[in-house]
Amino acid sequence: MNSGKLWDGRFSKGLDGTVNDFNASIHFDARMYREDITGSIAHAQMLAKQGIIEEKDSEEICDALAGILSDLESGKLEIDLSCEDIHSFVEQTLTGRIGEAGKKLHTARSRNDQVALDLRMYLKNETDTTIELLRKLCETLCTLAERHSSTIMPGYTHLQRAQPISFGHHLMAYAQMFLRDISRLEDAKERANVLPLGSCALAGTTYNTDRAFVAEKLGFSSVCANSMDGVSDRDFVVELAGACSLIMTHLSRFSEEIILWCSWEFKFIELDDAYSTGSSIMPQKKNPDIAELVRGKSGRVFGHLISLLTMLKGLPLAYNKDMQEDKEAIFGCFDTVKLCLEVFTPMLATMKVLPCRMRAAAAGGFINATDCADYLTAKGIPFRTAYKIVGQIVAYCIEKGKTLESLNLEEYKSFSEQFEDDIYGAIDLNTCLNRRTSEGGTAPEQVVKQIESGRLKVESYKKS
Ligand code: ARG
Repeated sequence: MNSGKLWDGRFSKGLDGTVNDFNASIHFDARMYREDITGSIAHAQMLAKQGIIEEKDSEEICDALAGILSDLESGKLEIDLSCEDIHSFVEQTLTGRIGEAGKKLHTARSRNDQVALDLRMYLKNETDTTIELLRKLCETLCTLAERHSSTIMPGYTHLQRAQPISFGHHLMAYAQMFLRDISRLEDAKERANVLPLGSCALAGTTYNTDRAFVAEKLGFSSVCANSMDGVSDRDFVVELAGACSLIMTHLSRFSEEIILWCSWEFKFIELDDAYSTGSSIMPQKKNPDIAELVRGKSGRVFGHLISLLTMLKGLPLAYNKDMQEDKEAIFGCFDTVKLCLEVFTPMLATMKVLPCRMRAAAAGGFINATDCADYLTAKGIPFRTAYKIVGQIVAYCIEKGKTLESLNLEEYKSFSEQFEDDIYGAIDLNTCLNRRTSEGGTAPEQVVKQIESGRLKVESYKKS
């Protein structure tokens, strides 16, 4: 009987219709058609080079595969979604076009090592695309930070005003996160860059294959050392999903701040109209939906990561069909991350920053209290004692409705004789900012340094 399946030799009837749909993966693995064809071409070339199939058969296979690829790209050929998976579709189309020679392609290969190959190739590409998007985001952050290396805003801990910082410094904190994300993706890509093809079903093959040749053709840096691991390793998928999850965590934290900053309570920024939405009932509303959606979509990616870990954790060696579930999860991770980055970066680039509002917020909340204590410490008072004195001054100010700047010298002196006229300069917000010159601190000169080294890193990740 002939069910059209690659594996129908030992079966007396075709799959039940619902089971057929349940078993199929073509509706989500079709997107790997390019990798499947490129991998097959390298495999066919290797088979001929090793004398496993004849040169003319290999040539015929490679030409036909190239034809299938260009027909798919031009839209002349459509992927037949009734096939089980993309591997079946490509092989069936090939034999449909060239007959007997096409049937030789699957020598010394299994779908188990083939799918592992396709997935690694596909994900290496996705990683590169994502790195490029992250690079753009980091560039945007550096440009914004440059503009705002002296723009004073309140820095927070516990969402309570803590110490003055610059907006540029705040932005560069995110740049550091995204730079780490790039490096994490690079690391994970390195481990994904190992050729599984040649592992065959699980045990290797009796044919005299040349795996290094295929690795070189397809741009892999090495060949997997164990055929069983080659077909059943999905660590690279989990690692990449982990890297995607952290990207989403960073984007989500950033989104949360954007959402806060847009509120009337803060009003530190205003999003461009092209990146905001309105309300169907409240005419005054301008909502930060984009940032909220980015924050919301992080859940999907974390979910995919957990799905992958759970799918793998009980699997005996080697290939099990459970692994087919890896694709939707990891595709979903990259689709979401890319989508979010594509809207997030221009949203940042076009937002209006409101330095006056930031400055006004920094003027309240006694965020120069540490500097006031540091002033006393410089006059020889131990920091803990100075801290106590300033605590009492703050309590006094709250009671009298005053700020540290508005106390007169007499009032200061009633707390400590060490206070002199220069206290006002010491607690000026510009002084507070400019004096935090420790490495990685918020002083503009340090922020500028950070931007410079950030830019160098961004440049170094550029694809050569
Ligand atoms: N569609 C399958 C997957 O995604 C391809 C591998 C099938 N291998 C097998 N032995 N049934 O994992």
